[in-house]
Amino acid sequence: MGSIDDGSTRRNTGTEENGDAARERAVEAALGKLDLTAKVALLAGADMWSLPANADIGLGRLVMSDGPVGVRGEQWTADDPSIAIPSPTALAATWDLDLARRIGGLLAQEARRKGAHVVLAPTVNLHRSPRGGRHFEAYSEDPHLTGEIGAALVAGVQEGGVATTPKHWVANDSETERYTVDVRADRRTLRELYLAPFEAIVRKARPWGLMAAYNQVDGHSMSEHDALNNGVLREEWGFDGFLVSDWTGARDTVRSALGGLDVAMPGPVTVYGERLVAAVRDGRVPEQAVDELARRVLRLAARVGLLAGAPAAVPVPPAPVDGEALAREIAARSFTLLRNDGILPLRPGLGSVALVGAAAAEARIGGGGSAQVFPTRVVSPLDGLRAALPAATALSYTLGAEPRTHVPPFAGGLSAELLGADGALLTTATLPDGTVRWLGQLPDGVGFDVLRAVKAVGTLTPRSTGRHRLAIRGAGRFVLTADGAQLFDGVLEFEGNDPAGAFLNPPELVVELELEAGRPVEVTLRHTLPEASAFAGFGLVSFALGHAEPVGTADELIDEAVVAAAAADVAVVVVATTEEVESEGVDRDSLALPGRQDELVARIAAVNPRTVVVVNAGAPVLMPWRDRVAAVLLTWFPGQEAGAALADVLLGACEPGGRLPTTWPAEEEDCPVWEVAPTEGRLDYTEGLFVGYPAWQRRAAAQPAYWFGHGLGYTEWAYEGLDVHLTAPGAAPALAAPAAASAAVPAPVAAAGEDPYAALARAVVRVRNTGARAGREVVQVYLAPDGVDPSRPDRRLAGFAVLEAEPGQVAEVRIDLPLRAFQTWGDAGWELRPGGYGVEAGRSAADRRLSGVLDVPALDVPALDVPAQG
Ligand code: BGC
Repeated sequence: MGSIDDGSTRRNTGTEENGDAARERAVEAALGKLDLTAKVALLAGADMWSLPANADIGLGRLVMSDGPVGVRGEQWTADDPSIAIPSPTALAATWDLDLARRIGGLLAQEARRKGAHVVLAPTVNLHRSPRGGRHFEAYSEDPHLTGEIGAALVAGVQEGGVATTPKHWVANDSETERYTVDVRADRRTLRELYLAPFEAIVRKARPWGLMAAYNQVDGHSMSEHDALNNGVLREEWGFDGFLVSDWTGARDTVRSALGGLDVAMPGPVTVYGERLVAAVRDGRVPEQAVDELARRVLRLAARVGLLAGAPAAVPVPPAPVDGEALAREIAARSFTLLRNDGILPLRPGLGSVALVGAAAAEARIGGGGSAQVFPTRVVSPLDGLRAALPAATALSYTLGAEPRTHVPPFAGGLSAELLGADGALLTTATLPDGTVRWLGQLPDGVGFDVLRAVKAVGTLTPRSTGRHRLAIRGAGRFVLTADGAQLFDGVLEFEGNDPAGAFLNPPELVVELELEAGRPVEVTLRHTLPEASAFAGFGLVSFALGHAEPVGTADELIDEAVVAAAAADVAVVVVATTEEVESEGVDRDSLALPGRQDELVARIAAVNPRTVVVVNAGAPVLMPWRDRVAAVLLTWFPGQEAGAALADVLLGACEPGGRLPTTWPAEEEDCPVWEVAPTEGRLDYTEGLFVGYPAWQRRAAAQPAYWFGHGLGYTEWAYEGLDVHLTAPGAAPALAAPAAASAAVPAPVAAAGEDPYAALARAVVRVRNTGARAGREVVQVYLAPDGVDPSRPDRRLAGFAVLEAEPGQVAEVRIDLPLRAFQTWGDAGWELRPGGYGVEAGRSAADRRLSGVLDVPALDVPALDVPAQG
């Protein structure tokens, strides 16, 4: 289980080879029938999510959909529900490649169900700084762990016959000025850190697509980066899939076409289309370049079964997966027990549990932005514990402290009237909650050109008497009424520099209103569409009606929770971030929990020593109270089965299986990389290779709260033996030829060299389960090259494996250490220095229980060509 590279993702069977050849023939035949305009039409979105069909060549409409935590489909609302799995940080916390592959299978199944052919995932940028707004959406601070999990997920999706686009290629590790930021990192840093997960995925899992990032690298936009797109990705690594722009990320017709960008999304207005036709006609872009781009789009269509005469790569979908059960399994496997004085698992026969926290009643299942999906149900911690606790255990619930800075969407159904000129009714639609969001398409085929306004109407039946809050979220002109009385008539302005910000993080206006329990009120919110939508070129309607019942003052809420917690045998406090705190489009200002949640935990811990804190966050938060509570359980953004999995873990039906994929700081000022704002448009990665645990380990002064790799289970482990030996003295096996090798597909330069992921060495680790219950352990192997090359970080993860053992049982795992783990990027390309390498096995980057030395002789590993950069 140490690597997905069992050969099955790379080696083709004879039938697959035949399939590749047949697909290439069909692609060439189709291409030969297209004139320039028809070829160019393949290269740009017809709308928000799809590429156009072409009946003349038997090409179907090709649909793409976000994203990493489920497949949203072509709608962006709760009326097209999806299975919502835990955040990518949670998936990485499982360190479980089989599970990642099964998740890929589920994403493929969801994609097929929704008619999508490409899943816009996984996000394999690195956790350079915990402030990155999309931290929750990426896997890890470590390139090896990121690459392994990413490759397993891609393999799983593609085994289901659906394409992926690992993203965002490359160096999109934070959000500030994300459309334009020019990232500068030295060659070695780029190669060893930021390119590394992409390289592993491309070489091992052979993705059918990749998404170019918005940002620039070395002054070249990634949608135009010839040296990285055509040079490194295609010629050196042998990538034969399609490269799609991030949404609105293609800026220049000629530079994109020559820079290897196959598809500009979304459409219909893009830098391609007529502009590309003109560029070919006047000689700025050779037609062969367009042929190359079109060929790759047709190859994609062939692989997913949309091109007549081409056999789909996976003609029969794999056996169905139970999505809800898998979402629950992933969640429990990902939950990371950071601290436990023995209180967990909770003993049977508890008299009472006090459950506290806004997220206990309403789980935060995901972060904000394009990674959002809308499940049919969410099991909250309150629901999960209520169902799992025995009837004899009393369960109380108090809110304690509110982390949300915004009023949540109105929870009841709404109807929406779509209005044309002079208020004429064009059509009506029903909405499952207060969110109105249509991108690219309107209900009943209404055209954006005729839509002038949308009026949402709903009936609010108050649960309690008092001051309710109604909210408008969105940018533009709004009129809000309650039982005919006008509460607001005005314009909400979006202030910010992210063009998608008005959609991702819109402004909010709150109105308070005295209402009586049980007396229904009709609420209407009318939105007049602005002249131009947030994303030029395609239609967008996005606003929400919010509603919140009256609650006590912040002091009253905390007091009430403290009283309940003091009276209970055990207090379980769920603290959380929100989808606004962790979101695409913005970086975080602070790692502190929002609102007064820290104070809530501290006060509860002071009155009940049996306090368990459940941290519902996708990325690091500060936990100043962590040493004063009995247990800290990190549940990430746990997806739709949040509460069911939480009950499984708290009550001991499942062991928390997670290990941190990223080091969690104790204090903000200790973070190795804090600055994410560019200076005059440039963001310099001056820390070089020292990101994550290597950075923490070179500074003795500041210790993190919890190290990369840390996580407790419900049993104990003794590390009893480590043997390490070279597996390939002389040379590693040659890289397999690309599956689709043909005249049309360039052979990778690397085929002349070595497979960097072949095992150079093998570590055999023996561990004993010394506890009283069966358990699962993640054995981590670090390579410490200090004696060979002092310029390298003290250690880096080189391999890992998951094992299971019964009490008293000894388990042995063989963990292959790839050639690449020993290599560094030098002037001549990848280099391997001979010498004595430290090899360490343990439970985290700091808890290394066994060590040995591996003597690596001088090996004849030819360096790869180094393509010129930009
Ligand atoms: C995000 C991508 C996403 C795309 C489509 C962009 O803003 O950066 O990750 O796939 O939107 O939603």
